[in-house]
Amino acid sequence: MQTNRAVSAQPATVGPTAVLSAAPVNGLQLQRLTQAIRGLTGEQLTWASGYLAGLAVGRPALAAAPVAAAGTVRLTILYASQTGNARSVAEALGRQAAARQLAHRVVSVADFRPRELAKEQCVLLVISTQGEGEPPEAALEFHRVLFGQGAPKLTDLSYGVFGLGDSSYALFCQAAKVFDARLAELGARRVLERVDADLDFRPVSEAWFPAALERVEAELAAASPGVAAHRDAEVVPLRVAAPVRPDRDHPFRAAVLDNRPITTRDAVAEVRHLALEIDPQAIDYAPGDALGVWFRNAPALVGAVLAAAGLAEDAPVEIAGNILALAEALTARLELTRLHPTVAAAWARLSGAAELAGLAQDREALRVWCQSRQVIDLITRYPARLQATALVGLLQPLAPRLYSIASAPAETADEVHLTVSTLRYQCNGQDRLGGASGFLAERLAAGDDLECYVLENPGFRLPADGDTPIILVGAGTGIAPFRAFLQQRAAVGDPGRNWLVFGNRHFQRDFLYQADWLRLRKAGVLHRFSPAFSRDTAQRVYVQDRLRAEGAELWRWLDEGARIYCCGATAMESAVREALVTIARDHGGLSADGALAFVETLRADGRYLRDTY
Ligand SMILES: Cc1cc2nc3c(=O)[nH]c(=O)nc-3n(C[C@H](O)[C@H](O)[C@H](O)COP(=O)(O)OP(=O)(O)OC[C@H]3O[C@@H](n4cnc5c(N)ncnc54)[C@H](O)[C@@H]3O)c2cc1C
Ligand SMILES: Cc1cc2nc3c(=O)[nH]c(=O)nc-3n(C[C@H](O)[C@H](O)[C@H](O)COP(=O)(O)O)c2cc1C
Repeated sequence: MQTNRAVSAQPATVGPTAVLSAAPVNGLQLQRLTQAIRGLTGEQLTWASGYLAGLAVGRPALAAAPVAAAGTVRLTILYASQTGNARSVAEALGRQAAARQLAHRVVSVADFRPRELAKEQCVLLVISTQGEGEPPEAALEFHRVLFGQGAPKLTDLSYGVFGLGDSSYALFCQAAKVFDARLAELGARRVLERVDADLDFRPVSEAWFPAALERVEAELAAASPGVAAHRDAEVVPLRVAAPVRPDRDHPFRAAVLDNRPITTRDAVAEVRHLALEIDPQAIDYAPGDALGVWFRNAPALVGAVLAAAGLAEDAPVEIAGNILALAEALTARLELTRLHPTVAAAWARLSGAAELAGLAQDREALRVWCQSRQVIDLITRYPARLQATALVGLLQPLAPRLYSIASAPAETADEVHLTVSTLRYQCNGQDRLGGASGFLAERLAAGDDLECYVLENPGFRLPADGDTPIILVGAGTGIAPFRAFLQQRAAVGDPGRNWLVFGNRHFQRDFLYQADWLRLRKAGVLHRFSPAFSRDTAQRVYVQDRLRAEGAELWRWLDEGARIYCCGATAMESAVREALVTIARDHGGLSADGALAFVETLRADGRYLRDTY
C-alpha cells in the first residue's frame, strides 16, 4: 500500500516551493539541477550525490571517485523495468545494501554490458514481465546475448532473481523464470530461490531484502575470505538529500485545464483529450514518457460494495498504519474495478461457495473469469459475511494507471496532454466502467486537481539525430505519444521526414486529432499520412494492412535509415511486427528466416521501438 502519497485536500508538498523551503538553492538553481540530473540512472544519481558531497567538503579525490568503483563492487543489483516497479525495488534494495555498508551498485540492464556478467561476483536481478510473457524492452540486448550462441560462461557468478509480474496474465513472471533458468544453465550459482511477486510486490520485496542481503554477505565472505564485502568507512559518501522529484508515492497536483471527448457521440468507444497544467520547474518530461494518474473509485460503486457486503461506511479500518473509514478506503486505497485472481481465490475460501472454489482450482479458468468481472460481481454472486478489516485485508491496493503523454515540452512546457479511452462494458447486463478512465471521464472537470507523476520511458524516444526519418504506427489511443513526437519535431525544427500510420474504426467518429494532423501536413512536418479506418469498408483494414499495402515505400524509408515506432495494444504490435517481416521478405528480397532476423536486428539496433499495453 502506498504509505505516503498525498491524499488530503491540501496542496501536495512536492512542488518547488516545498523543496525550496527546505533547500538553500533558488528556483533557477533547482531548475538547472533538475535538468542536469534528468535521465540519470539510480547508480549515476548515487554517484553524483557522492561527487557533489566531495566537492562540498573540498575533497576532490572523494568527489572524483565513484561511490562503488569497479574494483570495490561486490554486489551488482541489476534491474529490468518497463513501468518503474522493478527499478523502485532495485533502488530500495540498494538503499538497504547501503545501510549495511555493503559495496554495491544499482544499474539498469540497458546500461550494463551483458558479457561483463562473467566478471561479476554476485548479481541480484530484479526483472518484470511485459507484453505476453516477454522481458522489458530495456532487457533486449541482455536477452540477446545471454540466449545467443557464444553466451558467456558464468561459473564465477552467484545470483538471485526477484521477479515482478501480475498473476492475471497467462505467463506470470515469465521473464524472471526464463532468466533464472538461463543463468543457471550458463553455470552461475543460484544462491537464493527466485521470488515471483504479484502486483502487491512491496511487502514481498521488503520481506525479501534482509534475507537476500544476508545471503549475499555470507556468499561474498565465503568466496573471498579476508576481503571486505563492505565499503571502507573512509569512502562512504556523505549523505546528501536527493532533490525530491514527484513520483508514484509523491505525486504532484496538476490543475485540469481541459477535459473533453474527441470522438462523436455515436463512436463505439469514447476517447477524451485532457490538458493538465504543470509547473515545469517541478516536473519535466520528454516525448515518449507516460503520466501515472491516481484516481478515486466511483461513489455509487463503493456504495454498492458496502451494501452487498453488509458493512457500514464509517467502519474504521487500518491501512499502512492509518485509521480511516471503510468508505474512504474503498474509494481511494483499494482496487474495486480490477478483480485479481488472488482476491477471487481468497473470496472462495471465505465464502465457502462451492462453484467459486471449483473455479479457483483451475488457475487459468479463474484468471479468465476475473478478466471481465469486478469486485462487486464477486460479492453479489457469492455472498459472504465478513468484517470490514477482513475485506480490506483481502482487496488489492489501488494502483495508479498510466497514460502516454500526448504533448511535447517544446510546444507546451507547462501543460501535459493525455488521450484517454473510457473503458465501458457490460457484465451480467450491468454497465461497468474502468476505474481510472471512468473517473477521468465522469468525475473530473476543468478546474479540478489530479494527482499524477511522470514515468520516464527512456526506451521510447525520438532519435537524437533530428535528420532521421521516423515511421509512427499507432492504433486508437496508441496515437498519443506520436502527437508528442510530431509536436516536438515541429517545435525544434528537426528536418527528418515523418510518416504517421493511424488506425481506428471510423473516419467520421473517431479520427483522433484530425485537425492536428492537417495542420502538421500543411506545415510540412507530416510528410506522409496513412489512415486505416477498419469499419468504413466492407473488408476491414488495420494499420498492419496499410503497412503491407505501402510496403515498397516503407522499405525505401527503412533503406534510408528510418526508425519505426509502434504504440497501442499488444496484439496490434504483434500484427505490425508480422507485417514488417512480410515487407522485408516481399520488398527486401529476404528469405523467411532472413526477414525474421532482419526485424529482430531492427529491434536490437533500436530502430524498431514499441510501447504497448
Ligand atoms: C505504458 C502505458 C501507457 C498507456 N497509455 C494509455 C493511453 O495513452 N490512453 C489510454 O486510454 N490508455 C492507456 N493505457 C491503459 C491505461 O493505463 C488503463 O489500463 C486503461 O485506461 C484502463 O484502466 P481503467 O482504470 O479505466 O480500467 P480498470 O479499472 O483497470 O479496468 C480494467 C479491467 O476491465 C476489464 N475489461 C476491460 N475491457 C473489458 C471488456 N470489454 N469486457 C469486460 N471486461 C473488460 C479488464 O479485465 C481489466 O482488468 C496505457 C497503459 C500503459 C501500461
Ligand atoms: C502491457 C503489460 C503487459 C504485461 N504482461 C505481463 C505478463 O505477461 N506476465 C506477468 O506476470 N506480468 C505482466 N505485466 C505486469 C507487470 O510485470 C507488472 O505490472 C510489474 O509490476 C511491472 O514492473 P515494471 O514497472 O518494473 O515494468 C504486464 C504489464 C503491462 C503493463
